[in-house]
Amino acid sequence: MREAPIAVFDSGVGGLSVLAEIQRLLPNESLLYLGDCGHIPYGEKTPEFIRQRCSVMAGFFREQGAKALVIACNTATVAGVADLRRDFPDWPIVGMEPAVKPAAAATRSGVVGVLATTGTLQSAKFAALLDRFATDVRVITQPCPGLVERIESGDLHSPELRALLKHYVDPLLANGCDTIILGCTHYPFLKPMLKSMIPETISLIDTGAAVARQLQRLLAQRDLLAEGPNRPVRFWTSADPASLRKTLALLGQVAGEVEKFNL
Ligand code: DGL
Repeated sequence: MREAPIAVFDSGVGGLSVLAEIQRLLPNESLLYLGDCGHIPYGEKTPEFIRQRCSVMAGFFREQGAKALVIACNTATVAGVADLRRDFPDWPIVGMEPAVKPAAAATRSGVVGVLATTGTLQSAKFAALLDRFATDVRVITQPCPGLVERIESGDLHSPELRALLKHYVDPLLANGCDTIILGCTHYPFLKPMLKSMIPETISLIDTGAAVARQLQRLLAQRDLLAEGPNRPVRFWTSADPASLRKTLALLGQVAGEVEKFNL
């Protein structure tokens, strides 16, 4: 069981930012990655639709013999993690949420910005996160429709993307944020562009590395850490495998196999 793979999924390629952190921290592990690219953006879908997708993908990974599941998507976590934990109580499942706690601890100006999807920001889970950790700071939330679609198409540099991103970031700067949470796993791919439009004193916080550490803890507790050597990552997409292969290359992932996910 130790050498069984770890399953990772996202609505698309965003979860690759988390996959990279898992590979860095746990190089012996074999990984499976599924991008539900045929159904992006999750951020604009109903929680019910996302819950159904989560359940289909989790069932698939169980059949693949995965020893753990990582929901590498904030939007899918708020919609689906509770149901998955109920349906698969014996499975280590790691979800993710915007890094409100570390951002509230780090801010000096007392103003924190959150870039995330509409679905994440509208969720009760996010409201609870603010109630718990952000009582002493001001939090400015900014939904960012359109960014995910651009990243999915491999666009990390165009003037149109830059204009859209600036439109979302400017209100955070105008409100005095000194800490910006990247609350969607697609957004770490925009860090170079973001850094070019904000002062150096502003910190960008994402949760990929924390998720990898949490996964390591859960596997260690159950004596499930692999000794290696690992096997190449297997990729699936619910859209076109050739197009995912192209985007993977642009995002710095060497893709072995990319298979079509038909469920
Ligand atoms: N990557 C996902 C997240 O972390 C959402 C992207 C989407 O809207 O499909 O929230």
